[in-house]
Amino acid sequence: MKLLVLPGDGVGPEVTAQALRVLHWFAEHRGLALEVTERGFGLVNWQRHGTLMPDETWDRIEAAEAILFGAIGSLDQQAVIPSEERRKGSLLRMRKALDLYANIRPIRLLDALLEASPLKPRVAKGADFVILRELTAGMYFGTPRGVETLPDGTRRGVNTHSYTEGEIARAIRFACRLARERRGHVTSVDKANVMEAGALWREVAGRVAREEFPDVTLEHMLADNCAIQIARDPRRFDVIVTDNLFGDLLSDAGGAILGSLGMLPSASVNDRGQALYEPVHGSAPDIAGKGVANPLGAILSAALLLRWTAKRPEDAAMLELAVDRALDGGTRTADIAAPGERVVSTSGMGDAVLHELSLLQREA
Ligand code: NAD
Ligand code: IPM
Ligand code: MN
Repeated sequence: MKLLVLPGDGVGPEVTAQALRVLHWFAEHRGLALEVTERGFGLVNWQRHGTLMPDETWDRIEAAEAILFGAIGSLDQQAVIPSEERRKGSLLRMRKALDLYANIRPIRLLDALLEASPLKPRVAKGADFVILRELTAGMYFGTPRGVETLPDGTRRGVNTHSYTEGEIARAIRFACRLARERRGHVTSVDKANVMEAGALWREVAGRVAREEFPDVTLEHMLADNCAIQIARDPRRFDVIVTDNLFGDLLSDAGGAILGSLGMLPSASVNDRGQALYEPVHGSAPDIAGKGVANPLGAILSAALLLRWTAKRPEDAAMLELAVDRALDGGTRTADIAAPGERVVSTSGMGDAVLHELSLLQREA
């Protein structure tokens, strides 16, 4: 497997380093054929090359089979980078150019972390669902977009929430296929009551599920209600499929019920066998450089990579189990620690996962 690693900004390099240690362990002990190339992404490129995206890096991105991405974002510094440069070096360009339309964001609350969840144990215990976020259309990419000056001299900002039938249908199909491997239930989330694109979403979702996936049950839910239900009764969900913007918000809500965004992994895939793996969180400027970031979102993204790109479901399950055991054993980074609990660093969490992997390997 040829892997392109883009650590990026802020805590990106810190958490990516731990995910890479884990992948190298699988290469060394489990026969994973791994060839790693690393390139800068984000501010380091601007500082080193005067551009956010050197052509050579972009060529590698377009040709990559799998990308392991850290995080992007450095608000104050980005203000000085011209907007055209920012677009060239953005995560959105990468998602769009590779057509990574299916963004898989699993949300699984482990018993060991019940204390870290802001929800009561009787509400949260066992919550386990996936958000399938459509990632290449909707409000993020619709046109017209921009800021225009009106005749009276004031300005108007415009973005467009746009979806074609094809864009909706392929997201729904992906979600239904995911549900088949889980509990067979899909919740399609929209604002069909307000938006034309939402009404079309609902119509297409209903048709695709009915005609192509009679074995999957589909329910429709309004997005505002979904936000409530994630906090009130997260166990009712199996697969949530929704548009780009709602998926962004609802997956952060999912992170909140786990107690930390640092726990959430993601995979973004297209239909040509390419995928980008990244933790859901951003560059976390408030904690960057301190060695305290939780690397489990990145490490669990590596597990998704083992499952989706490397096609090694047993290794993926082994890594997820190693993470569960490290947490069961009481290893905590600051974001998921209860008051008074002992806290480890970013690399300390990596050590604990590697230790559990060695034990599992010996047991096997
Ligand atoms: P953020 O995800 O960076 O941080 C939100 C909160 O979660 C912060 O308190 C942070 O300390 C905490 N957090 C995040 N990751 C953590 C981890 N691994 N361990 C422990 N705590 C963690 O979001 P933000 O502060 O809204 O945005 C900061 C920058 O990141 C912005 O420039 C934003 O655009 C960017 N961003 C990038 C991505 C991405 O690269 N995919 C995602 C979200 C935000
Ligand atoms: C995410 C992030 C991105 C998004 C930002 C960094 C563009 O919040 O991956 O969830 O809004 O999609
Ligand atoms: Mn987000």
